[in-house]
Amino acid sequence: MKKIGIIGCGRQAPKHIMGYLENGIKDIFLFDVVESRARDLAVQFNIKHKKIEDLLRKGDIDIYSICTPPNTHDGIIKKLIDNNKHLLCEKPLSLNLDNLIEYEHLAKEKGLTVMGGYIYKFSPSHIKMKEFIEANQSRVTKAYFRIASPGIQSGWQYSKNQGGGVINELFVHMIDLANWYFGPIENIEEIDAQVYVSERVRIIEKNDILAEDFITVRMQNRFGVSITIEADMISNDFVQYVNVSGPGLSGFCSIQPNLPLVMSHTDKKNNICEYGEFKNLHTSQIRYFLNCIDQITTHSKSTISESISICKTINKITD
Ligand SMILES: NC(=O)c1ccc[n+]([C@@H]2O[C@H](COP(=O)([O-])OP(=O)(O)OC[C@H]3O[C@@H](n4cnc5c(N)ncnc54)[C@H](O)[C@@H]3O)[C@@H](O)[C@H]2O)c1
Repeated sequence: MKKIGIIGCGRQAPKHIMGYLENGIKDIFLFDVVESRARDLAVQFNIKHKKIEDLLRKGDIDIYSICTPPNTHDGIIKKLIDNNKHLLCEKPLSLNLDNLIEYEHLAKEKGLTVMGGYIYKFSPSHIKMKEFIEANQSRVTKAYFRIASPGIQSGWQYSKNQGGGVINELFVHMIDLANWYFGPIENIEEIDAQVYVSERVRIIEKNDILAEDFITVRMQNRFGVSITIEADMISNDFVQYVNVSGPGLSGFCSIQPNLPLVMSHTDKKNNICEYGEFKNLHTSQIRYFLNCIDQITTHSKSTISESISICKTINKITD
């Protein structure tokens, strides 16, 4: 029976716990630098917690989820890879290109599954949209990706030093989708990145600065598809959608079940406009992760190589 360790017991951890439970795994151990967070969450789900110092002492845990803030990922990933553990790490896997290249090399050498938590690719609407784009490959000329969220009242989410801000929190998801739909970005044409809500300076540490909470980037892929991504942490509610278009066709989809999946051709009658049901995408993401570990599935989604590509684009935008 598989044993799972979940590191970091904040907002994301319950989604991972549910994902493992819904895949029939109950042997789950929680860890957090603030032990009471691990204990409280363990009580809530009737699972176990351990002290963070005992992270690797429980030698029979071979699989981990990392649900901690971005600037802590590298330290944890290095420890886990050194100890031959498989891991699913919340996005962004790492903010450092050299580290990602090293992880790719080590994971291959040790036969480990190291996966980034890019959940959008597990959305049935986005999967159908990818099929629509592939079926109309040369006809899609434009794509607009939108994501917005109010954020949480947690200092690190807006902090430059701790790897917060709209780029690492939200924009990465859309870059990941854009790469998945259209292949890697080739040219970056225009960037507008700003801090809108400057009052958040009150919730970050004194020697820190606010990371951008709004960004629009206009780019092109290798085949000249014009891709615009707009992301912000200034909206009062969550919103996410993608619009693609080209001569005679258009498509719209979202991770949100209250927004429709639309795929239409001006010259065809059987166009689609449908609403999906709510699904826990973490369950499908974790099933995929476990199947990759068991080699039932070849690991091709949210690989380290994809994180390298995402990191290169972000480096170009932020340099
Ligand atoms: N996939 C998504 O849609 C999505 C959504 C939100 C957040 N995230 C990502 O999930 C990760 C966590 O975000 P969150 O919102 O759950 O954060 P959070 O602040 O709610 O929780 C983080 C937890 O990690 C703990 N922690 C910090 N450093 C640690 C360490 N070194 N070892 C063990 N525990 C540590 C904190 O005490 C805290 O309990 C981030 O990488 C974030 O970008 C992903």
